Amino acid sequence: RRNLQQLQERTLALIKPDGIPYMGKIIEAICCSGLIIKQLRMCKLSRGQAKDFYKAHMDKPFFEELANHMSSGPCVAMELVAEDAIAKWRLLLGPTSTEVARMKAPSSIRANFGTDSTRNAVHGADSYDSARREAHFFFADRMFAPCAKFFNVTLG
Ligand code: PPS
Repeated sequence: RRNLQQLQERTLALIKPDGIPYMGKIIEAICCSGLIIKQLRMCKLSRGQAKDFYKAHMDKPFFEELANHMSSGPCVAMELVAEDAIAKWRLLLGPTSTEVARMKAPSSIRANFGTDSTRNAVHGADSYDSARREAHFFFADRMFAPCAKFFNVTLG
């Protein structure tokens, strides 16, 4: 039985600095897949903010490289809403490694716009808890904004 949480699930999507030149195509792919963009903001992370966002990976060998990349230019953060939004967005973005994405998910965003495992164009929260934490990271000041009236728009 589907519960309300799955029917209106939210997730956090991020266009990374290397994905910014393709942001029009990425946003088009999101809209065509049935995911609804509830909130969107462009921002530039400091190195400290990038490290904080990826703190779960602080012991990984690629952590510094990841923090450097994520603070090298602007990002676009989006809160997406749909039934099974977390899984839908993860499927659309594809595997972490661009090489693997090109082999296993050639129509995914990373296969089309990524370069390697760090510069892989987009990020997606991987669980309900990380979606909540990451949405709060980018949209804490807007979490209680009266945006429902803007959200109840039927896309054509
Ligand atoms: S892991 O190790 O499975 O937990 O990592 P994963 O969730 O696949 O990736 C976490 C983020 O780290 C980046 N990453 C890498 N950067 C450089 N080199 C390598 N080998 C590498 N592996 C993973 C990757 O871009 C992931 O970022 P997000 O934004 O979560 O996709």
